[in-house]
Amino acid sequence: MNEPAAASPRSWTASSWRQCELVQQPHYADESALKDVLAQVASLPPLVTPWEARRLERQLAEAAAGRRFLLQGGDCAELFSECQPDIIANRIKVLLQMSLVLIYGLRMPVVRVGRFAGQYAKPRSSDLETRGTMTLPSYRGDIVNGAEFTKTAREPDPKRLLRAYHHAAATLNHVRALGEGGFADLHHPEYWDLGFVHQDTLRSEYQSVVDAILESIRFTEAISSERMSEMERVSFFTSHESLLLPFEEALTRQDSHSDDVFNLGTHFPWIGMRTASLHGAHVEFLRGLANPIAVKIGPDTTPSDLQALVRHLNPGAKPGRLTLIARLGQRHVGAHLPAMIQAVRATGVPVLWSCDPMHGNTETLSNGTKTRRFDTMLDELEQSLDIHSAEKSIMGGVHLELTGENVTECTGGARGLEDADLERAYHSQVDPRLNSEQALEMTFALIRKFRSLRS
Ligand code: PEP
Ligand code: CO
Repeated sequence: MNEPAAASPRSWTASSWRQCELVQQPHYADESALKDVLAQVASLPPLVTPWEARRLERQLAEAAAGRRFLLQGGDCAELFSECQPDIIANRIKVLLQMSLVLIYGLRMPVVRVGRFAGQYAKPRSSDLETRGTMTLPSYRGDIVNGAEFTKTAREPDPKRLLRAYHHAAATLNHVRALGEGGFADLHHPEYWDLGFVHQDTLRSEYQSVVDAILESIRFTEAISSERMSEMERVSFFTSHESLLLPFEEALTRQDSHSDDVFNLGTHFPWIGMRTASLHGAHVEFLRGLANPIAVKIGPDTTPSDLQALVRHLNPGAKPGRLTLIARLGQRHVGAHLPAMIQAVRATGVPVLWSCDPMHGNTETLSNGTKTRRFDTMLDELEQSLDIHSAEKSIMGGVHLELTGENVTECTGGARGLEDADLERAYHSQVDPRLNSEQALEMTFALIRKFRSLRS
């Protein structure tokens, strides 16, 4: 068997990525303004702590071993303008409700990870966008430039890095406050409320899960004489695509209690599919971080590429260190996933397998609208579960783009959203997200599939 080429064993520092090929970056006209802003970001407090990142790593190790399930979800791209209390709370609420359904349906704990508090940078297929006779830099996320199609908005602005830091901090503060307060108390009615669901079957399916959980809470409390909320507090971890490396580096800090270096801008950074090349700057940056990390893999990733990547990103074969987020697409998953699972197994490196059924299934309608079909995404999830089961492997998580708002961006689901409905409430600047009803419905469908494989 051909051994994949080993990546260069150069010593790692938080800036060694600067020696590697760097793709998917904006061009800043004023380098010295960029430097000044980065120095300011580097002097600000971290957003998360090393012990939180370590706790997450332990929980991801449990998920890889089939004793916990990873639920990772949120916007494709967070917007500064959507850093609002209701929008944040609704997103948290749908993730909480999905996690309850998973806990109940899978009979195991769930680790909740948001695509939030820092998901502001986007990779683009082209550096430039042309509309009519005008060509401007592509929108690369609020951390870089504005989505509006004007010369001023599209100019990459270093000051946005500071705004991104402050919006991430405000978002995370609100998420933490909600988690500490009544919102995430299992006894609190907010927790259970299904204001957004108008579809009867889904409502009654959810209500029966809630009734069963409340019943077991009452039972546990009766025999332990302790309040359940004090026994298990609901918590969230944060994650985002580690794309804009100068900013990521500015939030990377040495742990004061060990030799470890953490990116303390997020608990769980991931490498996007377009920046996952073995010798590229993004892989170089993440390989040295002590955070748990993830990498998105697509149909163009060969089994031998994957082996090299897995060895390079988790040389110590540490459980929980590396998550592989497969986003192969409904039409490719059957042909690619089995060989990928076998290749990774042959390395002996433990990974957590997660499935992103969204990014391989984006379609563009004739009017230019990007959408994703509920049944296509569900089919990729179901096929992935079947394949992992046949390979005696574990699919320990899902990665979804979703929002707590009642948007119409993906079609299908119990309400039967059609192409023509999309214009009604299409808010995403980038990829189409599941609305809260569709997200909950996807969760129930996933549970049904899990159960059919177990029985
Ligand atoms: C994303 O997660 O929004 C994204 C761009 O994904 P991928 O890297 O899988 O294309
Ligand atoms: Co996306």
